[in-house]
Order: sequence, then C-alpha cells, then structure tokens
Amino acid sequence: MTFSKTRLSLVALAFSAVAVMGIEVHAETNRVRFPENLDDLVHYTTVRRGNVTEHIMTTREAIDAVKQGQPIPDGTHFVLVDYREGKVHRYFVMQKGEGWGNDYDEGRRTEDWQFQWFWADRSINMDENTARCQSCHSSRSDENHLYTFDALSAFHGTVIE
Ligand code: HEC
Repeated sequence: MTFSKTRLSLVALAFSAVAVMGIEVHAETNRVRFPENLDDLVHYTTVRRGNVTEHIMTTREAIDAVKQGQPIPDGTHFVLVDYREGKVHRYFVMQKGEGWGNDYDEGRRTEDWQFQWFWADRSINMDENTARCQSCHSSRSDENHLYTFDALSAFHGTVIE
C-alpha cells in the first residue's frame, strides 16, 4: 500500500470512529454559507490590530433592527474581512437562522448564531473548530453575541473607527 493510501484509510477510519462514537471532529462544516451579496453589506466599523485591518459589515436590515430595538432577522450575516498588507487574508462569518441553535447542546449554543472561517478564496478552513468562536462570543450573549454591537447603534453612515 502506498503512503497516501494508508493515510487516506487512516483518515477514513478516524472519521468513521468519530461517527460511531458521536463525538466531534475538530474540522467541520455547518449551516453558515458565504454571503452571496457581500458587496451589498454595509461596512459599519473598522478595527485595527497591528498589521491586521478588520472591516466589519452586515445588512442594512440588521442595522435598522438594532437601532429600533428589534431582533436581528433570521438569515443575517455578519462578516469580518481580515485584510493584511491590503489583501484579504480571511473572512470570519456569523450567520443566524431559525432553530440553528438546536444543532448544538446548551453549553455550546450561541442562540441561533453559527460561525465559520473562510479563506480568501472562500473555502472553509477545515482546521478550525468553531466551538472556539462560540466560546469567545458567548461573553457577549447579552449583545446578540456581537463584539461590535454598540457600533451598530452609533453608525449613521460614516464607518466607525
Ligand atoms: C478570543 C475571542 C474570539 C474568538 C475565539 C473569536 N472571536 Fe470573533 N470577535 C472577537 C472580537 C473581540 C471581535 C471584535 C473585533 C475585534 O476586536 O477584532 C470579534 C468580531 C467578530 C465578528 C464581527 C461581528 C462582531 O461580533 O462584532 C465576526 C463575524 C466574528 N468575530 C466571527 C468569528 C469567527 C467565525 C470566529 C471563529 C473562527 C471568531 N469570531 C472567533 C473575539 C473573538
């Protein structure tokens, strides 16, 4: 057996063992889809961290809902575009859907929000465990699990820096 075949069957074995035992693999897809309408999203705030510039965006409807104290609509995307040296390095995406929280047990659940990491070519980073995203964003459970919630209310057309 060649090396690559051995490796493939080991991977297959690992995945089937995981399926049988019902435990989680560290890489996963979930319900989050890359937004079809990225260019229609509203860029409301920019966060700079060293050589990283983050453009954070969502729908006009979500911004209006937050300003009016209404729930953020199902289907909403929040996208953090991570730029390095002027080029997209990766996209962090949160998306909400009716009942999506039921995919996770209570300890992990972030209401109906799910999280995903996409590379610049929009493929999913299969090395990420999005439980990590949920765990950190849980500390903002009173603000829709968003770190930049305050900027949504403060946004009046000029990007908040
Ligand atoms: C250690 C904590 C931490 C982890 C882990 C983390 N985030 Fe965040 N996230 C933040 C912070 C803080 C911000 C606000 C922007 C900033 O300060 O860089 C943020 C902002 C965001 C935003 C913009 C909306 C918002 O909340 O303001 C999205 C989308 C996002 N993160 C997705 C993800 C995804 C997807 C993952 C996992 C791949 C992830 N995050 C992991 C802390 C975290």
